[in-house]
Amino acid sequence: MKVADLEFEPLIKAGDIEKRVKEIGIQLNEDYGNSHPVFVGVLNGSFLFVADLIKQIDIPCEVTFTKLASYYGGTSSTRKIRDDIDFIVDIKGRDVLIIEDIVDTGNTARYLLDKLKAQNPASIKLCSLLLKPAALENKIDELKYVGFEIPNHFVVGYGLDYKEMGRNLRDIYKKV
Ligand code: IMP
Ligand code: MG
Repeated sequence: MKVADLEFEPLIKAGDIEKRVKEIGIQLNEDYGNSHPVFVGVLNGSFLFVADLIKQIDIPCEVTFTKLASYYGGTSSTRKIRDDIDFIVDIKGRDVLIIEDIVDTGNTARYLLDKLKAQNPASIKLCSLLLKPAALENKIDELKYVGFEIPNHFVVGYGLDYKEMGRNLRDIYKKV
């Protein structure tokens, strides 16, 4: 399958994503009980994951978004983070869960965790649909929920893009 100028092949099926999202939802309902958490989705990549995950949550919660970019259309991290939407929700004393599409080098996650920590939330954790353990360059103790650990492939689909294409795909694909 072609996305922009690159060839991709299936990695994770939509049905498996759906199943895993349900499991994470059950876990979050249990872990956050009556604490009225704030879920912070990281745009653009996490929009489908947040939408599907939030439908599994049956405890009182809030949902908001921030927007960061680090890839600039390539297939490897530039290690530079662009902060596109500043975070305006007051999270002081709140239980915060950041929701990411993927943790690759972990630079984006580290940056956002440290930025939000400075606002003194009661707790802050990270939930990522995908994790590339072999690419991780940062210690991220806050990463408590992971959908799938994947090898060091470049992936698209289910919100993730290559050159802004492929976000609409129901399955997740890896670069051939
Ligand atoms: P990190 O800062 O290196 O962990 O990269 C995090 C961000 O880069 C993610 O939130 C994604 O937006 C993007 N990214 C990392 N790996 C991939 C990939 O395989 N496909 C598409 N986007 C990716
Ligand atoms: Mg992202």
